[in-house]
Amino acid sequence: MKTSLIFATLGMAAIVLLLLFELRTAGTDARQGAETQLSASIGGAFALTDQNGIRRSQADFAGRPMLVYFGFTYCPDVCPTALDIMGGALDALQQRDAIAYERLQPVFISVDPARDTPPVLRDYLAYFHPRLSGLTGSQAEIDAVKSAFKIYAARGAAEDENGNYNVDHSSFFYLMDENNRYLAHFDHAITPEILAEKLAEKLNEKR
Ligand code: NI
Repeated sequence: MKTSLIFATLGMAAIVLLLLFELRTAGTDARQGAETQLSASIGGAFALTDQNGIRRSQADFAGRPMLVYFGFTYCPDVCPTALDIMGGALDALQQRDAIAYERLQPVFISVDPARDTPPVLRDYLAYFHPRLSGLTGSQAEIDAVKSAFKIYAARGAAEDENGNYNVDHSSFFYLMDENNRYLAHFDHAITPEILAEKLAEKLNEKR
């Protein structure tokens, strides 16, 4: 009797453990599924104008992975810091993996098209990296690309004595693959070295 009781207890414990494991696995799968779905929906078609005044769509970048950052040239600190990191990461990637560097197209997309005209973008981006492509457009075109990339950006109501205003915006680096599909995103607090390492890793992953 005693032995069978022990076996029964062990059996129950095993079933409970198995159930817990199943529940945990199911939870993880659901979470990963939701994240994959959200990520897969980042990106899409766009129609914009580059820093040289040339019309550009996603088709112009087809076949090349893109590292995309959204911001504005009047940004006091977040954008200059992020673009410094992007420039540093590109230089580090060139040293680490010249092929990945050559393939990758770094892109800055303005969330402040009223002030970020093509010449303004051209002068600004030259400070950060020679390969940076800058994109701007009409407010409607920018709204469309912001929505495609799930970017939050909102103009502050306050203006200083020169009529300058702030634009609050999300700050991520998006890595898109050669078919303009989401690969990864990186926080703007990353270091250039780690960003370069992750870019090399992601760009060389078998998919
Ligand atoms: Ni900014």
